[in-house]
Amino acid sequence: VIDIRKLYGQTGAFTYDPGFTSTAACESAITYIDGDQGILLHRGYPIDQLAEHSTFMEVAYLLLNGELPTADEHQKFVYTISRHTMLHEQLATFYRGFRRDAHPMAIMCGVVGALSAFYHDSTDITDPKQRMIASHRLIAKMPTIAAMAYKYSIGQPFMYPQNDLSYTGNFLRMTFGVPAENYEVNPVVEQAMRRIFILHADHEQNASTSTVRLAGSSGANPFACIAAGIACLWGPAHGGANEAALNMLREIGRPERIPEFIGRAKDKDDPFRLMGFGHRVYKNFDPRAKVMKATAEAVLNELGVTDPIFDVARELEQIALKDDYFVEKKLYPNVDFYSGVILSAIGFPTSMFTALFALARTVGWVAQWNEMISDPEQKIGRPRQLYTGSAQRDYVPVDQR
Ligand code: ACO
Repeated sequence: VIDIRKLYGQTGAFTYDPGFTSTAACESAITYIDGDQGILLHRGYPIDQLAEHSTFMEVAYLLLNGELPTADEHQKFVYTISRHTMLHEQLATFYRGFRRDAHPMAIMCGVVGALSAFYHDSTDITDPKQRMIASHRLIAKMPTIAAMAYKYSIGQPFMYPQNDLSYTGNFLRMTFGVPAENYEVNPVVEQAMRRIFILHADHEQNASTSTVRLAGSSGANPFACIAAGIACLWGPAHGGANEAALNMLREIGRPERIPEFIGRAKDKDDPFRLMGFGHRVYKNFDPRAKVMKATAEAVLNELGVTDPIFDVARELEQIALKDDYFVEKKLYPNVDFYSGVILSAIGFPTSMFTALFALARTVGWVAQWNEMISDPEQKIGRPRQLYTGSAQRDYVPVDQR
């Protein structure tokens, strides 16, 4: 048995906490979650109030700067963001290098990482002004990048940003508009997208945000750090869950099949999990899921979509909430359970769902990255390990092995 403390010259406490279930890696004043009560606050403001009354730009300003903007500050912020929505023309060639059926998240990892080659001036991260410009660029360009990934996959020409539209309206037009036609933004759809973006804007030290912080702690270029966050978000246990949840609802198909899938989720020999259910922190209703459910209802009514999977989702929620397994383990619908229903009704293919999540979460990522870099206590992130390998031994020449 190796005494790992001796091995590493470790003195004092050494904790082993896989998955960081009870270890804080930083201090943060951005987002507060009370998982038992189902409370989520951004800079003190409840998420349901922000989703109801705020704009996405206002929430972005709030997360980045700590306070809601005045009317003047809001106007200036919107103007600044709209001035950065364009991508360098040369970036279009990056898209052409991808297979046209590439997953949008693969494209976004590549293109966002490539932005680091275009903005050398953001590499002086010790300068708060340069950090803010990099943050504005990322927030502004993400809708353009995501929309271009979609256009590329369906073989349509890229749409340039139209900056007199709202952040969400502009994104919808770049995604669903075509150059030959006038695209009218549906206000109910725009409202739904605004809510979805606000609900996804930040969620304290989740896996992708922690990835951005860890990458950024070495002083790496911010665009490269956000690309790392996108890679982490892609996984089905994190941002990929909305895609997985919708695929699962489609597979279930009709309410009569729900018990079969509930049975599978409870079976420990079956790796199947109810996607869109459960959360590391929420052991109560995810407050974002409530807003999502109401938004799904509004969007389906407005668009006249009668999607049977919405009935499956509602029924599944009811059955699971009464089932002992889900009650005991405190598994409730999370933000991803209903978001896929809404995005699908609007016309997004499932492969775009996580890309939209990345677009919205960019705001939280840059806010958290800025907070970390400006923290005087900030150190390079360097987790320790519990070594379980061989004790020291001598090298054996190959003919003696
Ligand atoms: N279906 C069935 N059982 C579940 C589910 C589920 N969705 N989620 C958790 N459980 C069970 C686990 O099997 C485990 O049971 P055990 O104690 O008998 O072993 C127990 O509940 C605790 O689960 P853990 O995996 O230990 O909890 P953890 O906090 O690590 O996982 C996670 C949280 C990853 C979100 C998990 O609930 C899950 O996989 N859910 C489905 C994927 C999903 O919806 N992810 C989106 C999260 S929200 C977001 O990223 C925006």
